[in-house]
Amino acid sequence: MTNARVTNAEIGVIGGSGFYSFLEDVTEIQVDTPYGSPSDSLFLGEIAGRRVAFLPRHGRGHHLPPHRINYRANLWALRSVGVRQVLGPCAVGGLRPEYGPGTLLVPDQLVDRTKSRVQTYYDGYPLPDGSVPNVVHVALADPYCPEGRKAALTAARGRDWEPVDGGTLVVIEGPRFSTRAESRWHAAMGWSVVGMTGHPEAVLARELGLCYTTMTLVTDLDAGAETGEGVSHEEVLRVFAANVDRLRSVLFDAVAALPTGERDCLCTRALEGLDTGIRLP
Ligand code: ADE
Repeated sequence: MTNARVTNAEIGVIGGSGFYSFLEDVTEIQVDTPYGSPSDSLFLGEIAGRRVAFLPRHGRGHHLPPHRINYRANLWALRSVGVRQVLGPCAVGGLRPEYGPGTLLVPDQLVDRTKSRVQTYYDGYPLPDGSVPNVVHVALADPYCPEGRKAALTAARGRDWEPVDGGTLVVIEGPRFSTRAESRWHAAMGWSVVGMTGHPEAVLARELGLCYTTMTLVTDLDAGAETGEGVSHEEVLRVFAANVDRLRSVLFDAVAALPTGERDCLCTRALEGLDTGIRLP
């Protein structure tokens, strides 16, 4: 169905594996960016009077593996329709036995173990409009929006899904899962959950001055935390499917709970005093 009234949005939701649709009464728009096409159309609609743009991270039907997602285009496209706050749920493996399938963990830290991904807008290459990005180093000590995290935690509790508040998401290159040795190493480092898409999404959001929050849904115990044959793609999709309805409810409530009006968090100050050399959309 088409909702012709909605043409822009303030909040973006990037859906992960098994999460390809979100809103009901939507306007579908295609957005091009200086970095190419995003993973799919943007689907614009409303939740509790807040305008929302949904983007399936892997594309409808999941045709994009984590390392081939155009993360730059995705975040640029969201910002270009007005989005300033992003919720990016994703499926992860648990690195500790207590983080079994069905756990919802809202990380406060991130470790990048990817290898091949473009992770900046500020690479010195000219944009089609002739502008050239300067060298820009954004702060990422705290990679997630504190306000977004609060909204996510409150929303989960409101749905009787006690979330784990904080923890470290380590992002691997994929598309393969970790070996048992890699997984044990990740756990020994004190990291909590492992996924394939949380980086560079959080970094690029910060480079655009967007608020970004991830909510991780544990679909499996990673190889080092279990004694069986290790995780399978089938298991990830099955557990995600079993939890997608309640994750959708939590996201709806989190959208409604995000701050309104002027933002006042560290994300908004990411570009303060920096000359990016380019005009952000
Ligand atoms: N996504 C879901 N489960 C995962 C795992 N065990 N490792 C990496 N990414 C995942």
